[in-house]
Amino acid sequence: MSRTQPQSIECAPQSGPFGLGDSSVYARWRADKLRHYPRNLEQQRVSVASLRRLNPSEREQIVRACRRTNFALYQTDTGVPSSMEDLRAFGKRLGLVHFDRHLWAPEEGIVTLRREVESSRARYIPYTDRAMKWHTDGYYNSTDNAVRGVVMHCVIPAAKGGGNWLLDPEMVYIAVRDANPAYIEALMQPDVMTIPENSLEPGVYRPAVSGPVFSLDPAGGDLQMRYTARTRSIVWKDDAITRDAVAFLEQLLTAPVSFAFRVRLEAGEGIVCNNVLHNREAFTDGADANRQRLLWRARYRDRIAGTSARQDGKL
Ligand SMILES: [Fe+2]
Repeated sequence: MSRTQPQSIECAPQSGPFGLGDSSVYARWRADKLRHYPRNLEQQRVSVASLRRLNPSEREQIVRACRRTNFALYQTDTGVPSSMEDLRAFGKRLGLVHFDRHLWAPEEGIVTLRREVESSRARYIPYTDRAMKWHTDGYYNSTDNAVRGVVMHCVIPAAKGGGNWLLDPEMVYIAVRDANPAYIEALMQPDVMTIPENSLEPGVYRPAVSGPVFSLDPAGGDLQMRYTARTRSIVWKDDAITRDAVAFLEQLLTAPVSFAFRVRLEAGEGIVCNNVLHNREAFTDGADANRQRLLWRARYRDRIAGTSARQDGKL
């Protein structure tokens, strides 16, 4: 199915593992997920000789890692620094081709993230050295324009700090559904989380965007999550069950967070994921330019090819 056309979204499925009416299918999917979930980060690490020419074995290892937990860490040879062109080729080999065109995304689709001082982006938190709370990328997008795949490539790590915690949204879904299936129902409402108009970039008009926290990718039926732990500029649906569900999520994402992994990318390393939940620790840049944190980030409308549970007959 093409990603270029808006697609209708199935919000509250009746069947399949994410259907609340189908507890035996859910139980099977859940058991399978927990059985394969990695016990340590090393299981998720893949060495890649050249980002530009991802070979079939490297590709397979990345896909397998992502099927376990929706993300993989890759490590390139730092003796040969990668270019943005290499990163684009890497994404393409993984089926990541349709870039998310957000406000700050350049023509070529890959954003340079570093602490900005003078540009207008300096007031926008990813371009500062401040900590970022748990979120999925593009939480201010409509579900039709969901960010499904993300690559974060570290060119230069910070002198200090700047680590990320990563958490598979499917594990959050399990924790929420096990606590109370009615929370899932609340979080799948199409108007449960609203970003008011004009709330993110002063001076730039953006209409209000409402959407669910959990929804299903219409192409493959996989779970996708839209969430931010920010409390400013977020309006939650005002009913008791939503309040309880959101409070439960907040508590779930309070450290120590079960099933989350901490990553601190070194130069030449990166994360490729199906838009997993993540946060960022504050960081401190060094005085030299080569000690100032520099990351490249590419956001896509696509999931990583070969990671849909439907292909495994699990959906
Ligand atoms: Fe992010």
